[in-house]
Parts: sequence; structure tokens; C-alpha cells
Amino acid sequence: MERDQRIEPRDWMPEKYRATMVRQIAQHAHSEIIGMQPEGVWITRAPSLRRKAILLAKVQDEAGHGLYLYSAAETLGADRSELTGKLISGRQKYSSIFNYPTLTFADVGVIGWLVDGAAICNQVPLCRSSYGPYARAMIRICKEESFHQRQGYELLLTLMRGTRAQREMVQDAVNRWWWPSLMMFGPPDADSTHTAQSMAWKIKRHTNDELRQRFVDMTVPQAEVLGVTLPDPDLRWNEERGHHDFGEIDWSELKRVISGDGPCNAERVEVRRKAHEDGAWVREAAAAHAAKQRAAEQR
Ligand code: ACO
Repeated sequence: MERDQRIEPRDWMPEKYRATMVRQIAQHAHSEIIGMQPEGVWITRAPSLRRKAILLAKVQDEAGHGLYLYSAAETLGADRSELTGKLISGRQKYSSIFNYPTLTFADVGVIGWLVDGAAICNQVPLCRSSYGPYARAMIRICKEESFHQRQGYELLLTLMRGTRAQREMVQDAVNRWWWPSLMMFGPPDADSTHTAQSMAWKIKRHTNDELRQRFVDMTVPQAEVLGVTLPDPDLRWNEERGHHDFGEIDWSELKRVISGDGPCNAERVEVRRKAHEDGAWVREAAAAHAAKQRAAEQR
């Protein structure tokens, strides 16, 4: 680790390193798959063919990211169906951010701008994460995330050039998503269970608070160009620190949402459970086909 080498699937690794990687990669994969829901419900209601095509592509990308990540977890010996079972039974987590509702089409834009913006901030350093298959998956994922972020920002710019009602819709969405986006980076460093060990193992390259600060600094000028107000009266540039100061995050809300009590947790898990059960026949058919192929090869 000191030598900054990549760890590959067949290399020796401490069992705790393996467990940590499976935990983080599985949570990440689950987030991508659950993350299809809040935007997916807008596909049939997108206001134009162009917006529908973009949204469809984006939600499909998220499915793809989930699949790469489950494959990366499999290189560590994890079993995909077990991971899905753990998600559905609440034994594994997914990102808090996807437990909030998408009330208007402006939410689709704000998810692209803020949620995918925060995801990029968190995931670009993971391209240098010490576990090879995860770091390599992250390169492609980040490229696609940056398209997602731009489509969101462009959608919002269009709405901001529209009517007063459209501008108000954007501001309302920003008000609802700003604080949950800051929570995506995880608890403050002092309360983070895994940061110190994950930094030592070079799984994480920056702490939760460092990345949160980077995101705030990156987003403030973008909000100015857009013409929206970030809902934090304490947000201001601190010349001495060379960073923006910002207000206290409601950590009790993050705890509640992570522990299953957010606005949409029950619905998200239920939709995923149903999709998994509805897909049982596809998995059975694929397994039967593979068995037939194997039998034919042995003949
Ligand atoms: N939502 C849900 N759970 C969270 C969140 C969050 N926003 N932040 C932290 N947690 C959980 C951690 O998973 C951990 O729980 P566990 O011990 O039961 O596994 C606990 O809270 C304590 O947090 P940390 O010790 O800080 O955890 P960690 O070092 O794993 O850092 C982080 C959390 C920053 C999210 C890290 O896991 C990470 O970078 N993951 C990869 C990125 C990712 O998963 N993104 C998903 C959303 S982005 C998208 O899909 C568009």
C-alpha cells in the first residue's frame, strides 16, 4: 500500500480490505440501481422528445454503472444475487440521496446538476482507488456522469430562460435538493467510521469533508451563472481559508434517511424487490439456456 500499487483480484489482500471493498462497491452499485427510480418516473412525462431521449439514455447509463459495479464486486468473491438480497432486506445500504421524491421536471435538472455533480466530485478521485477493477470501472462511469451533469445544467439553463413560473420551479427544486446533496458525501470526518482505514489503504483519496468543501466551492459560481440562490444564509467566501464557509448540516436527517426513515425509503426498496421478483423467469431462462449449452458442448 505504501508503494501505491494497484491491488488486483488474484493478489493477496487483508480480509478486512476485501470486506471493505465489497461493502463500498456493493453500496455504490445499489445506489446506481435504486437511483434509476426517482428520474425513471419522469421518462413518460418528459416535456419533449429530445428531453425524453436524453433522460432515457441517462437512466440506462445508470443501469450500466450498476452492472459494472456488481461485476467489480464479483472479482472479490461476492455473489450478485446475495448482494441484491442484502439490499432488498435492508442489510446493505445505498445512497441517502435517492430517498427524496422528484416532484417536478426541474428536479430532473437539479439531480443532474447537484447530485451528479456531487457524484463526480466523489468519484473522480476513486479512479485512483487502490483496487484495480473498481478504479478502472470508475473511469468510464465518471465520463458518463459528466454527460449527466451537463444535461442537468443545460435543462436548468433552459428553464431559467423561460417563464417566471419555470424559474420558481427551479429555485424550489434547488431549495429541496441542496442540503441532501451535501449529505451525499457522508458524515463529518470526526464521525466517519471508515475514512481513516480507507485512506490508509488508499481506497479513499480524500476525506468526506474535503470532498464536500470541493463540491461547495465548485457549485457556488455555477449557481451564480444559473441565477439561483443556494438556500444557506451562512454561505460566503472566506478569503483567509480560500474556501466558502457554509452552514451546519442537519446530521440527524442524514442518520434518519440512512437508517431507513427517509421520505421514500420504503417505496424505493419495494419497487426494487418487485422488479427482482418479476425478473425471476428471465434468470431461470438464462440459467436453463446456459445448462443446455454446457450439455451440448459435452456431447
Ligand atoms: N448514504 C447512505 N449511507 C452513507 C452515506 C450516504 N450518503 N454516507 C455514508 N454512509 C454510510 C456508510 O456506508 C457507512 O455505513 P456502513 O458502515 O454500514 O457501511 C456509514 O454511513 C459511515 O460512513 P463512512 O465511514 O464515512 O463511510 P465510507 O468511508 O464508506 O464513506 C462514501 C462514504 C463517501 C459514500 C463512500 O462509501 C464512497 O465514496 N462510496 C462510493 C461512491 C458512492 O457510493 N456513491 C453513490 C451515490 S452517487 C450515484 O450513484 C450517482
